[in-house]
Amino acid sequence: MSRIIHLIVGARPNFMKMAPLFRAFEKHNDKFIPRLIHTGQHYDERMSKFFFEDLMMPKPHKYLGVGSGSHGEQTARIMERYEAILLEERPDLVLVAGDVNSTVACALDAVKLHIPVGHVEAGLRSFDRGMPEEINRLVTDAISDYLFTPSLDGNENLLHEGVAEEKIHFVGNIMIDSLTNFLPQIEASAILQQHCLEVGEYALITLHRPSNVDNQQSLEMIAGAFEEISSRVKLIFPIHPRTVKNIAKFGLEERFSRISNLFLTEPVGYYDFIRLERDASFVLTDSGGLQEETTWFGVPCLTLRENTERPITVTEGTNQLVKLDKDAIIELASEILDGKRKPGKIPNLWDGKTADRIVSIFS
Ligand code: UD1
Ligand code: UDP
Repeated sequence: MSRIIHLIVGARPNFMKMAPLFRAFEKHNDKFIPRLIHTGQHYDERMSKFFFEDLMMPKPHKYLGVGSGSHGEQTARIMERYEAILLEERPDLVLVAGDVNSTVACALDAVKLHIPVGHVEAGLRSFDRGMPEEINRLVTDAISDYLFTPSLDGNENLLHEGVAEEKIHFVGNIMIDSLTNFLPQIEASAILQQHCLEVGEYALITLHRPSNVDNQQSLEMIAGAFEEISSRVKLIFPIHPRTVKNIAKFGLEERFSRISNLFLTEPVGYYDFIRLERDASFVLTDSGGLQEETTWFGVPCLTLRENTERPITVTEGTNQLVKLDKDAIIELASEILDGKRKPGKIPNLWDGKTADRIVSIFS
């Protein structure tokens, strides 16, 4: 009998992780019935619907419509609504990805109903419990039955926490499955022409971490750095809704809009965004996924954080951490613009075949 697999999506970084798994399970539709469950944590068209289109995913089987809220509210709402679906459908397996509130909430629901849970992107640790994502990672890993790691530091972290070795599967990085699968569409994107950008002559920016964008002082520091860097290179900044709201809340709209070489845009779709990343002179970000994608492309990445749960992007890839300090940001950006690029290589098993490796474990 075919097994029902729930694939949980909720926030933007979940879509590119679950799309390849959906396809890989569908290839074996004699054995599996994959079903996408969308919690609705992200709901703007540009944070959700655009990705279903670009990543060629069908409409979700269920949409929970939880929306935004405090951590407690959002997690509780997801748990309440997803539990009802689990009771109705009793899937054979629930797969969650990454470290967002939807990940931990759905894993908790499933495990309490004795439904096996697999965590895609397991074992990553920043060792910074001040970040909500670190709590989500720790809890999800502690309760999952299958732990799919993207890099061997993940295996080490899990073993160190006492996880049984047979639960841990080093399968590689699922983000790279989406990226490699859509390379022709990424190549065909017209986003550079639309924004009058030349290959290698602009920097791409994304920022959405509470530590960077939830207080006025940090955002002012960032604006100060942009004012200087933009005298040397065009900056394109597709802004996350959290950041848009905070720029308005702190009355910084005018300051950002006065920076003449800074182009603020709404969040962009997957093909356009990856194209912007691929052809950038460098990327300045606090995103998890961007640290990995830039390493795959060999594009310099400055990560505006004190730590990273993805250390392999620093030890092997093109990523460098930069602290929230105007001069530090300007110095590292200037080094790259002066031609001092950190060399990097693509980590092991970041090869576009991670979803197949996961499916083969259940075949
Ligand atoms: C969430 C994840 C974070 C991830 C990020 C990816 C958690 C705890 N955080 O952060 O790990 O890196 O997604 O993008 O799960 N909003 C909208 N429209 C939307 C979605 C959000 O306007 O479609 C606004 C709301 O004001 C909301 C705020 O953004 O309160 C934050 O959204 P939320 O999902 O709570 O956290 P993110 O900052 O998006
Ligand atoms: N992304 C996108 N459009 C954007 C910003 C990001 O398609 O405007 C993609 C990006 O390429 C990566 C993913 O969204 O694949 C990362 O999402 P995000 O930074 O929101 O989350 P994080 O990885 O930090 O959890």
